[in-house]
Amino acid sequence: MADKISVLYTEEQVNNRIREMGEQISKDYAGKSVHLVGILKGATFFTCELAKRITVPVTIDFMSVSSYGDATESSGVVKITKDLDEPLEGKNVLVVEDIVDTGNTLSYLLDNLQKRGSLSVRLCSLLNKPERRLKEVNVDYTGFVIPDAFVVGYGLDYAQKYRNLPYIGIVETD
Ligand code: IMP
Ligand code: MG
Repeated sequence: MADKISVLYTEEQVNNRIREMGEQISKDYAGKSVHLVGILKGATFFTCELAKRITVPVTIDFMSVSSYGDATESSGVVKITKDLDEPLEGKNVLVVEDIVDTGNTLSYLLDNLQKRGSLSVRLCSLLNKPERRLKEVNVDYTGFVIPDAFVVGYGLDYAQKYRNLPYIGIVETD
């Protein structure tokens, strides 16, 4: 049976917000370059759109971590399933994530990345669900703060589906 999905942020709203975030990041990193670390697979769409809106020099790498599987609850166990291709020494790293939910993934990942000799590590997340937080995570750039609902689209999936929706929607569960 098809899942019912209601629009939370339209394509236009998401694109406008990403443009604003790109402008802010370009200001904050003026005179420097920024190394985007996108977290597969959810942050791929956001990473690419954000990169297009940043006007300082950009390099991009991706890594993959697992904590969720196909369920909608965090397991609390985080594992790097694909590491970065490039070292982080001397770089201004900006981790790009789709959503910070419990914070399990990012608290582990930021700890890990901070030990790799970069100049700085900051976090940029398209969505932030603070009500669900179990571990404290400092989000430097947040697209939208959302309520405790399961969302899909713009890279976010439900059992690997709906990543390609150009908007952000809530999966209605009844
Ligand atoms: P956390 O470790 O609980 O903060 O969440 C890590 C990952 O869970 C995110 O990067 C997403 O891939 C996934 N996730 C959390 N909430 C949602 C949601 O509402 N929709 C889709 N994926 C989610
Ligand atoms: Mg993710």
